Amino acid sequence: MLVRGDPLDDGERAHERMVTAVQSSWRPLQRGAKPHHSMCPHLPLVLVSLVKIDDEAAQCVVYRHLNHKQSEWLDSHSQWEAGRKHAYHSGMQETLVREAAAPTKFAKGWYLVSWSTDLEPAGVKPLRYFGKNYVLFRGEDGTATLLDAHCPHLGAHLGYGGRVEGNDIICPFHAWRFGASGRCTEVPYASRIPPRAAVKAYQVQEHSGMILAYFGPEGSEPDYEIPHIEEMSSPAWTPLQQAHIEIATHPREVIENIADLAHFMPVHKTLIDDFKVIIDGPRATQRSIGRGHNLKGEPIPVASVATYHGPAVQFTHLQWAYDMVLINAHIPVEENKLLLRFGVILKAGEGVTLPPAVLEAHVAAARNGYFEDVAIWENKRWRDQPIFADGDGPIAEVRKWYTSFYADSTAP
Ligand code: FES
Ligand SMILES: [Fe+2]
Repeated sequence: MLVRGDPLDDGERAHERMVTAVQSSWRPLQRGAKPHHSMCPHLPLVLVSLVKIDDEAAQCVVYRHLNHKQSEWLDSHSQWEAGRKHAYHSGMQETLVREAAAPTKFAKGWYLVSWSTDLEPAGVKPLRYFGKNYVLFRGEDGTATLLDAHCPHLGAHLGYGGRVEGNDIICPFHAWRFGASGRCTEVPYASRIPPRAAVKAYQVQEHSGMILAYFGPEGSEPDYEIPHIEEMSSPAWTPLQQAHIEIATHPREVIENIADLAHFMPVHKTLIDDFKVIIDGPRATQRSIGRGHNLKGEPIPVASVATYHGPAVQFTHLQWAYDMVLINAHIPVEENKLLLRFGVILKAGEGVTLPPAVLEAHVAAARNGYFEDVAIWENKRWRDQPIFADGDGPIAEVRKWYTSFYADSTAP
């Protein structure tokens, strides 16, 4: 928290003069304004950044500047109003500075936005990813559509009270109708549809139990596909079991796990005998052969081939107590919060029904393997320039691969 009345140095009087000058010239940040920064030129400096997140939210970040290179994070508010009030009332020693904060970076690519079973026919779901709001709905023909959430008319959120008619969604506020392309197709009380009445629509694909959407900078097109999981259509495999967890971390932490050879024993209690990471365009595959245990505690071999198809959707073919296919997909909710979805199918054999307890125990073991890293991720600090030792695995290569998905825009 910001401590009011932090001891000021000799520049105190200058600070006060500046406070008066800046407070009298300070204007509320207008919607659509560029990031707004205030900084005192005297040490100890306090810097306030109002960073626009989207049309509704601004983040007010308060730092204490320690020296020319370092600053200490003190406080932040992520709501527009809260951010604005904070800047007004915290008595900051402010003057405007020109540089913008480093933009929030997200990787462009296909993301899993919902399990198929979570969106029923004619269903409507509000979603929040990448710090923005979306609406996902299923038309009566079964097609899933993802649109920006807010109606271009007066801004209602289509995901709260919007309803599906045919393959369109009807805004809950004044009943404007939008098709899967995002274009307004009807204004029920008007003689003509305003030509610019549209919301942004995203490319969506649905297969293998997943609704996938492509996020990228304006005008960018996907240059890879997420493959179908063929095993799902075989009667020898169990139906998809699903789980999810929200994690306070950045996706890059999740990604570099695939190259982190040295964490397998301490975190997953698995001894790895053979380990390789193969990067091929938009795909990064980890192949490993190791030794683990079955649920009776007996040592058994474990072999896995885990491929990221783009930056956020990974399929693992695992040979353990059973053959399994695992889905591990994450999507940022905000910059340092993501939703990780986990899915698993298991090869019981054609005509074999596993006792539910056996199935559940194996699903839980596979799921927990993914969730074992969470406590580390949530509490670790990102090191841009870590000190590596031999035996660490090709973490630097995987970082480079992941950053190739970064786009210039602040949010895809
Ligand atoms: S706000 Fe959507 S129709 Fe008016
Ligand atoms: Fe891990």
